Amino acid sequence: MKIDNLFDLTGKVAVVTGGGDGIGKESCRILAAAGASVIVSDLSLKKAEAVAMQINEEGGNATSVACDVSKEEDLINLIDFAVKTYDTVNILVNNAGLGGGGRENPFNIDLKYVERIYAINVFAPWLLCKLSAPYMQKSGYGSIVNITSMSSINNSPSMAIYGSSKAALNHMASNLAFDYGPMGIRINCIGPGATKTHALSTVLTPEIESRMLAHTPIKRLGEVSDIAGAVLYFAAPISAWVSGQVLMVNGGGVQTLD
Ligand SMILES: NC(=O)c1ccc[n+]([C@@H]2O[C@H](COP(=O)([O-])OP(=O)(O)OC[C@H]3O[C@@H](n4cnc5c(N)ncnc54)[C@H](O)[C@@H]3O)[C@@H](O)[C@H]2O)c1
Repeated sequence: MKIDNLFDLTGKVAVVTGGGDGIGKESCRILAAAGASVIVSDLSLKKAEAVAMQINEEGGNATSVACDVSKEEDLINLIDFAVKTYDTVNILVNNAGLGGGGRENPFNIDLKYVERIYAINVFAPWLLCKLSAPYMQKSGYGSIVNITSMSSINNSPSMAIYGSSKAALNHMASNLAFDYGPMGIRINCIGPGATKTHALSTVLTPEIESRMLAHTPIKRLGEVSDIAGAVLYFAAPISAWVSGQVLMVNGGGVQTLD
């Protein structure tokens, strides 16, 4: 048995949203290291370009494109771009997300906020699944990975909209697994615990961190590489019979902000 083959993505095409930073960036890097051609997409073209350049310098194969996942035309353009550039899409990482951080006081937010969170966290992944699935089916290899959140199953204050949007993403995936399985496409979710990224740095204080660590058996916060490892697992042939699942990558604990 060759272990490498189980993680080999040579010849596969991967599309990652929000790939310019944090978990998305590291996911792009690990998929490229496994041999995939990676389309790094991000709201910021500059960030996407920098990640693609780094991957190419590391010996991988990557291209960049601007994509604001809240815009339907950008999502259509993203899959068109992937197909024009690399002929197909095999792996889709729905990583771009918005909200959380315990900033959703239910009496201060309005419907516009709710619509925006759901547009980015739920509607965009749905449309990208719809647009890429036919190519995955035709190519004979498809794996979709949604980055959700621990808050999709935990309850805490001022997280109702973000948490429910990520719960919707989980449930959408476990249902789509039934539609997609016969097409040769798997779909799974990863729920990161508190992971050291720019997004987390906007809410983390030393007090919050020590409270989080008190409830975390593995006594550190997550690194982006911890989450990217799970992305590779779901994207690669090693998880060929795994679909409709949610894997929490959280040091074995629960890190809430309250
Ligand atoms: N970091 C954590 O602790 C944590 C925990 C749970 C879930 N998550 C989830 O992980 C995912 C990535 O978060 P992160 O912490 O790596 O964030 P990050 O802030 O480090 O990076 C996010 C990237 O997404 C891009 N982006 C923002 N809005 C976008 C849009 N509308 N369209 C396309 N790209 C956009 C940004 O430019 C940036 O490059 C999100 O879905 C988030 O909800 C993160």
